[in-house]
Amino acid sequence: MTEINLTIDGKQVKAEAGMTVLDVARREDIYIPTLCHHEKLEAFGGCRLCMVEVESRGWTSYVVSCLYPVAKDIVVRTRSDKVDKIRKVLVEELMAHAPDAPELVNLAREYGADRDRFKKEASFCVLCGLCVRYCDEVKKKNAVSFFDNGAVRQIKFVAEIAKNECWDCQECFAICPTSYAQAAYLLTEALAFPGQRKTAKRAAKATAKPRVIIPITAVPMTA
Ligand code: SF4
Ligand code: FES
Repeated sequence: MTEINLTIDGKQVKAEAGMTVLDVARREDIYIPTLCHHEKLEAFGGCRLCMVEVESRGWTSYVVSCLYPVAKDIVVRTRSDKVDKIRKVLVEELMAHAPDAPELVNLAREYGADRDRFKKEASFCVLCGLCVRYCDEVKKKNAVSFFDNGAVRQIKFVAEIAKNECWDCQECFAICPTSYAQAAYLLTEALAFPGQRKTAKRAAKATAKPRVIIPITAVPMTA
């Protein structure tokens, strides 16, 4: 196994070829914010919050650390004026969709983001894809998917699958950073298979770190 030396925030560390900068930072307890990353899932590179500054052979670039492979002698800075500015704007954009999501509120505090900078488009979903990818890669059910593209891109539960698969799973609820996965499922259930919910005790299945579930007061009719 090829060993690679690199520096992260002034600390010299060793890594194996194939690791990403985020992998190494996490192993070293160096914090990099992430929204679309999950240890059980393939890297997605969607939220870009994990962006870091990398200096290599005299060049500085800004890379998505959950996708960027380690390389010999690179110097990584997880915070700099420019990195912080990029994260601030990213958080502001995400807050147009989910202004009260606890992780975004914390990040806004950290990076000085203005939750009202961008016009509100309260879809409540930040399209991180965690629910879609978890249901695909871990559960192998594909009960929730992306639909459409561009500004109208959204996630939806597939009623025919969800009515059989979701009632005793619901693991995506806990990994969704905004609570929209839960709201979208409940809406699908109410519209497509009302009254079919089984009353059996739901398995409290272990997922990643539990997230705070925030109430959603309005949900677009997208089932
Ligand atoms: S519903 Fe939640 S987990 Fe799914 S894509 Fe939207 S924000 Fe991410
Ligand atoms: S965590 Fe890297 S792009 Fe979202």
